[in-house]
Amino acid sequence: MNAITIDGPAASGKSTVGYQAAQRLDFIFFDTGVMYRAVAWALLDRGIDSTDVEAVGQVAAQLPIGVKAPGADAQDGRQATIQIGDLDVTWSIRSPSVDSIVSVVAANRLVRRELSRKQRNIGLEYGMGTTETAGVVMVGRDIGTVVLPEAPLKIYLKAPLDERARRRYNELVERGSEADFARIQDDMRLRDQIDSERTVAPLRPAMDAFQIQTEGASVLEVVEQILQLAAKHLNVAPPSPGKPDNTGGRNILPD
Ligand code: DC
Repeated sequence: MNAITIDGPAASGKSTVGYQAAQRLDFIFFDTGVMYRAVAWALLDRGIDSTDVEAVGQVAAQLPIGVKAPGADAQDGRQATIQIGDLDVTWSIRSPSVDSIVSVVAANRLVRRELSRKQRNIGLEYGMGTTETAGVVMVGRDIGTVVLPEAPLKIYLKAPLDERARRRYNELVERGSEADFARIQDDMRLRDQIDSERTVAPLRPAMDAFQIQTEGASVLEVVEQILQLAAKHLNVAPPSPGKPDNTGGRNILPD
């Protein structure tokens, strides 16, 4: 199986590093957090109370979430196009209002049952080589522990809270959004706490995960470290720079 799982707390570098590693390996990249975010966005849109376990579970079961690897056409820095039906929600699921309820949504057992099942199917489909892509990099909180525990390479990224808050602050400022460092840090602390202390699939490293400290390391250094581990643990050809990208435009999760 050609699957790499990357778990870790908010802004530990999972998606930046995971996306680049996937590109170098010609693997599909799938950030599972977008599915929890899409459900949270839909609750706000429909005025549904995020603490209503049954109602939120129903939304998760019925929501037509689409995830598509962006083709050469996407020029705005997106790693994937996220849709609810025909609506492009790629950037709206990153809003502070979604941030403020998404951990509660992700702690809902009905939501997790629904989304983990779909994520596992995607991991198996792309990881087992049943498609023409070479493999999958899946990013989240419980991928190595619950969603795809049989993956041959599991990574857990770590970085101190203030470093992670600084990264998120810089991201927001670069995108031209307003940002308040102290608030970002407080919110992140709270979200990490909810993600780690929930009863279902809490954030924690798998027993056999390689733990990588990303503080003070460049993105490239961490990516190289993962590629070295991939060469050892997966069945991958050495990356060839001239190889065409065969993942662009693909529907990872068709709605
Ligand atoms: O990685 P992120 O910030 O986009 O994740 C959004 C929320 O979803 C966050 O509270 C963690 C949660 N999540 C999860 O519980 N399990 C996953 N596999 C991915 C994300």
